[in-house]
Amino acid sequence: MTTAQHKIGSGFGATTTAAEAVAGADLTGKLAVVTGGYSGIGLETTRALAGAGAHVVVPARRRATAEEALAGIEHVEVDELDLGNLESVRAFAERFLATGRRIDLLIANAGIMACPETRVGPGWEAQFATNHLGHFALVNRLWPAVAEGARVVSLSSRGHHYSPIRWDDVQFETGYEKWAAYGQAKTANVLFAVQLDRLGAEQGVHAFALHPGGIMTPLQRHLPREEMVERGWIDEAGNFLVEFKTPEQGAATTVWAATSPQLAGLGGLYLEDCDVAELAPADAEGLASSGVRRYAVDREEAARLWTLSAQLTGVDAFARA
Ligand SMILES: NC(=O)c1ccc[n+]([C@@H]2O[C@H](COP(=O)([O-])OP(=O)(O)OC[C@H]3O[C@@H](n4cnc5c(N)ncnc54)[C@H](OP(=O)(O)O)[C@@H]3O)[C@@H](O)[C@H]2O)c1
Repeated sequence: MTTAQHKIGSGFGATTTAAEAVAGADLTGKLAVVTGGYSGIGLETTRALAGAGAHVVVPARRRATAEEALAGIEHVEVDELDLGNLESVRAFAERFLATGRRIDLLIANAGIMACPETRVGPGWEAQFATNHLGHFALVNRLWPAVAEGARVVSLSSRGHHYSPIRWDDVQFETGYEKWAAYGQAKTANVLFAVQLDRLGAEQGVHAFALHPGGIMTPLQRHLPREEMVERGWIDEAGNFLVEFKTPEQGAATTVWAATSPQLAGLGGLYLEDCDVAELAPADAEGLASSGVRRYAVDREEAARLWTLSAQLTGVDAFARA
């Protein structure tokens, strides 16, 4: 497989913060949309982009919570959006499009992880539906507003190592496994960036996917304490046993992907620790320590997922009339 998945030597790393990654960039006059931009990594992404001068729109599932979390940060605007509800996605996109504004940075950050089996919409598995299909519909609906030369950033995870797309049972109708479902959804987040980057090329739009690192945030809300102990993350007393990034460090790769001139001319890539990631070894099993799986950056898989997602959501900004 010929691939551009090779480190470029950005000079940044795992401990770089979002403020450091964006230092020197003047985003005055730029507009960013950050889904989930009021919690964990998203909140620090909003803070860094707004701090560099961007106007940041934060569509939120819980508007009042978002307004509270973002109070005191200038150049931020909150709207409503539930990614698990395509009607809500349509309504937000229509409200935004009606303002006539352009989007320079579109950050698909919101997500849920390893939840108990949950069905949304027409019976879709909630992690695939929220993390992938909701963002798929959102970006396609917002596409008329996406500016030439814009960047789209899709928050994936090292968790994509848990599963490729399960073509024979995408919605887990034959039995649910929460980590396989997260893995599939996070693989979908990478494949989405791969295909969008190809489709957006004409408009000079580039898309990137990334693993932000391991960060303790409300994302872990569905994990029982015993499971975190079992995984070796914490001890019985709740002390951390592995090194987690701070949310400010966790947001660095997003901000770098969205703004860095070091990525000019590149796209469709999976990033980690503020650099392009290497391919994970072909024989890696389970959760490899770093890198991207071949199935997550495979162009045929990416095109196939786009077609399926367009069929399921009924939205495709690139469909031929
Ligand atoms: N933390 C990590 O270690 C880690 C590692 C790898 C990848 N990631 C990825 O990074 C991203 C951000 O995670 P985080 O750690 O910052 O988690 P977080 O603090 O839980 O933030 C996730 C955000 O997504 C929003 N969200 C969830 N479901 C939604 C829906 N149906 N519609 C609209 N918004 C929704 C949440 O809103 P509410 O607060 O209203 O629920 C929240 O604002 C996720 O995509 C995650 O998969 C995180």
